[in-house]
Amino acid sequence: MHIPSIIETKRDGKALSDEEIRSVIAAYTCGEMPDCQMSALAMAIYFQGMSKEETASLTQAMLESGEVFRFPEGTPKVVDKHSTGGIGDKVSLILAPLLACDDLWVPMISGRGLGITGGTLDKLESIPGFRVGISQEEAMNQLEGIGVVMMGQTSDVCPADKKLYALRDVTATVPSQALIVASIMSKKLAETLDALVLDVKFGAGAFMKTKPEAESLGSAMQAVGEAMGVDTRVCYHPMDEPTGSAVGNALEVVESVETLKGGGPEDLRAIVISLAQEVSHVDASQLAAWLDDGSAWRKFQEMVGSQGGDVEALDNLGARHRAPFICEVTAEQSGMVSSVDAETIGRSTVSLGAGRSRADDVIDSSVGFDKLIKVGALVSSGELLGRVHAADPIGAEAGVAALKGAISYK
Ligand code: URA
Repeated sequence: MHIPSIIETKRDGKALSDEEIRSVIAAYTCGEMPDCQMSALAMAIYFQGMSKEETASLTQAMLESGEVFRFPEGTPKVVDKHSTGGIGDKVSLILAPLLACDDLWVPMISGRGLGITGGTLDKLESIPGFRVGISQEEAMNQLEGIGVVMMGQTSDVCPADKKLYALRDVTATVPSQALIVASIMSKKLAETLDALVLDVKFGAGAFMKTKPEAESLGSAMQAVGEAMGVDTRVCYHPMDEPTGSAVGNALEVVESVETLKGGGPEDLRAIVISLAQEVSHVDASQLAAWLDDGSAWRKFQEMVGSQGGDVEALDNLGARHRAPFICEVTAEQSGMVSSVDAETIGRSTVSLGAGRSRADDVIDSSVGFDKLIKVGALVSSGELLGRVHAADPIGAEAGVAALKGAISYK
């Protein structure tokens, strides 16, 4: 295989064959193909795009670069969800144990915060002792025992994606639809799923700012999932205001616990149930009943215990992670809240210390926002709009200014 000719083919806008794509990924993963050639190819893909067939071949090749889950005969239906990320998006924490109540297996491989969107692993790590670094063998044992595991990508899963993602990050080739689809879907399909639901967000606080962009990404991911024999559903959710009322790692776990106990914000509960019903055997009313009767909460506690987490700490996580400065922001006028800008809240949460600007940054689990007002609420002057949790007075002041600036009235 002559790599410069493959780069030339894509540079000139022609399609690559399945064999060419497989050889490139194999050569790059084992180190035979240097970064300079892969950078050129990634840039050619960025400008010329890839057909559905090429994207499916790329996904398959990346998936086959590492280990995949292998389930024995007679295993229950294996399902998962992927979200393209949003502000206050703690859906996975509730959805994974809820699906396990339906005797489904949920081997959820999640990621860390990316840009202004939070990551499930960072949220889970605010639970004292919780381990996300689980081997495949441990994951299998946990699935057999309780049906759900929430873990990080091990070095054996999709090593081609790990290498290529790092290269895309430094060569301005992350925002290529074909490369995004192959990167996300290879990791999800390594879980050997029967069904997958994709939660594609659009709006101010999402990567995809408009619904048409979200639909283009959603249908490309669905096409790849279906091509690989996985029942793949797509749901589109606006991300103009944060999901729920809390943003920040421990604050989001607290809100998830409330929702797992049958409470929590209406919008969060509705998203969880709408996604869960796409892949489960039961209808929305049964899923709601498992939230209300404590079944999902007990499943979550079992999972936390099984992954080394302190189950007792779940009921007082807010107190354990109490930020030194908690400031209330109140309405300066009466009216109807017309927007709570998710992007502003997301950026401010990262600035408060909940996210990273470099891969090795240490995050602060305690900071963020809670009790956020929702769009459509009627407020009187002096009423609470939300609280800022900060590590120091400067952060608190900036958070208060951000929250005030994020809210508009009609
Ligand atoms: N998340 C991923 O895992 N890969 C991408 O390319 C983008 C988001």
